[in-house]
Amino acid sequence: MKLLRIDSSARSSSVTRQLTAKFVEEWKQNHPDGEVIQRDLATTVLPHITDDWSATHLESYQLTSSQRDYLSTSDRLIEELQAADTIVIGAPMYNFAIPSSLKAWIDQIVRMGKTLGYGPSGARGLLSNKRVIVVTARGGAYEKGTPTEKFDFQEPYLRHIFGFIGLTDVTFIHAENQGREAAGPSLAAAAEEIGRLAAEQSLQVAH
Ligand SMILES: Cc1cc2nc3c(=O)[nH]c(=O)nc-3n(C[C@H](O)[C@H](O)[C@H](O)COP(=O)(O)O)c2cc1C
Repeated sequence: MKLLRIDSSARSSSVTRQLTAKFVEEWKQNHPDGEVIQRDLATTVLPHITDDWSATHLESYQLTSSQRDYLSTSDRLIEELQAADTIVIGAPMYNFAIPSSLKAWIDQIVRMGKTLGYGPSGARGLLSNKRVIVVTARGGAYEKGTPTEKFDFQEPYLRHIFGFIGLTDVTFIHAENQGREAAGPSLAAAAEEIGRLAAEQSLQVAH
């Protein structure tokens, strides 16, 4: 079993990092022989997409060595994703959306012929049988059914883009109110939720 952990907070003492670390700890207890692959997007700075990205429309044998070189970052990140059974992503809310570092990772892994195909009925995600857990932290609160729900551009976007590449089993855990008095209780509730999720997964493994 393989777990891919992705962190995208700029802060080393970050809330999402604490929570993804907790998930890894719990996952390791349930999968003592499992492997954890870690991607820290604060230290691995991924490039923006450039004109060279059009090489993704070529067949492998048609690529020049410089195009191969350009695509090697995307190749490596996609291999990590394909190999993982579970993916845990730490996604702080920045300006109502995700950090640009996480968007840069998404731009590298959404790729025609690798994670996305086109058939007679349109686009088709090529990834399957993976569980995704997204842990967010926000200064404010954007709960469903509240007037601020519409400012949450994290969960709807991530659900859509992951579904687009075939990742449909996505669970969100939100640590809200991190800029307010309720920060502590919100963080504790998110941590408890992670514990519950890990216990649920160990039950599934046991069956
Ligand atoms: C650049 C930046 C932009 C932010 N934008 C928002 C925002 O739009 N809405 C919000 O509720 N909190 C916002 N925050 C607060 C963070 O979401 C909050 O501090 C959260 O705990 C960050 O996650 P982390 O602790 O994992 O780094 C922002 C923080 C930073 C640094």
